[in-house]
Amino acid sequence: MTRKRTKRPMPVIFRLLRTLLLTLLYIPIQVVFIPLALIGVILGAYKGFRRSRQLGVSFSAIRALHYRWFGHYLNTRPDPLSVAFTKEFPCESHFGLWSLIGPLVISRRLFGFAKELGRLPEPGEETLASTPGRRLLVFDRIMEEAVDEMEQIVIPGVGFDLIAQRFTEGKDVRVFELDQFGTLNVKIETLKKAGIKHDWITYIPVDYSRESWVEKLLEAGFDKTKKALFLWESVSLFLEADVVKENLRQMAGLCVAGSKVAQDFYSDAFVSGELSGAARKASRMMGKMGEPWKFGIDMMDDPRGAVEAFLEECGLRITEFHQFGEKREVEPFYCIVESEKNLGPTKRFPRMSSPRPL
Ligand SMILES: C[S@@+](CC[C@H](N)C(=O)[O-])C[C@H]1O[C@@H](n2cnc3c(N)ncnc32)[C@H](O)[C@@H]1O
Repeated sequence: MTRKRTKRPMPVIFRLLRTLLLTLLYIPIQVVFIPLALIGVILGAYKGFRRSRQLGVSFSAIRALHYRWFGHYLNTRPDPLSVAFTKEFPCESHFGLWSLIGPLVISRRLFGFAKELGRLPEPGEETLASTPGRRLLVFDRIMEEAVDEMEQIVIPGVGFDLIAQRFTEGKDVRVFELDQFGTLNVKIETLKKAGIKHDWITYIPVDYSRESWVEKLLEAGFDKTKKALFLWESVSLFLEADVVKENLRQMAGLCVAGSKVAQDFYSDAFVSGELSGAARKASRMMGKMGEPWKFGIDMMDDPRGAVEAFLEECGLRITEFHQFGEKREVEPFYCIVESEKNLGPTKRFPRMSSPRPL
């Protein structure tokens, strides 16, 4: 038997010196970009804030698109489709994003400088800043596995996510994407301009806090007798608790054996902003942009148990649970959960030891 070699960590002093040296190399590049960034910020703000309001586009969906763009250029998740989309997208400036992130991209490529945004920690080691990047990879994995197992894929609150283009083109699976009218309309127009194929996807405009998305989904051809994946990424936090519950109950009602619901939950401390300064800032900004965060789960003592109890009320049972930051033993803030229709009694999971604050 061969012994596994473990890599010795670099002594702290060398790590500090290395970080200092890389930061010193990074600063001049950042300085060169300042004039571009000034123009970029104005362009980005005009398109992201003003144009999005004029066109009735979800600001949170634009923010989610940013992380796909960052992931492409910071090489944590190559995504040429999202980049091609952004170039034609009326509510974001490709140049604006470059002017802000360019120094980081260049420094990373030239000498391996990485800020939190460009880091991809191991599963369980996530921080708040690295969560959006890692989240995309978990949903990619879920989608990749489901695409050959399922007959239908439903993505409510899809925003500008192009995960369907990434995994389902040419596959024997029906895809339904749902979102509010303005957001879907701009998405389809931008896809056409960017030359991104989408003819196998059925788009369903709906505001599911006011109307029945189930009715619309059935009218659009969803088959209740066939296996489906419901992919609900970063949507529940924008809805009231009773709307989240009702939506999940309805998804459970449409699940035949083998179907799956994949979604994420944030903690109530994150949603209220109590978790940290960064969460507070983001929560306030989303409120100002007219998309306040509303729903979180109390994850303080036993995140898995709390999510399990919530899903149980909706007729669902956990099959996979990914708790971000778990290995860092910080206060739980985010998880991705895969579940199936609950057809029998569920098993309780042990409680976690006390977490320490972030
Ligand atoms: C943070 S974005 C996530 C988008 C996408 N799932 C992603 O990961 O890129 C939240 C999405 O939920 C949609 N949404 C929020 N409330 C909604 C509602 N009441 N009806 C339909 N869609 C809604 C927004 O329009 C937006 O596209």
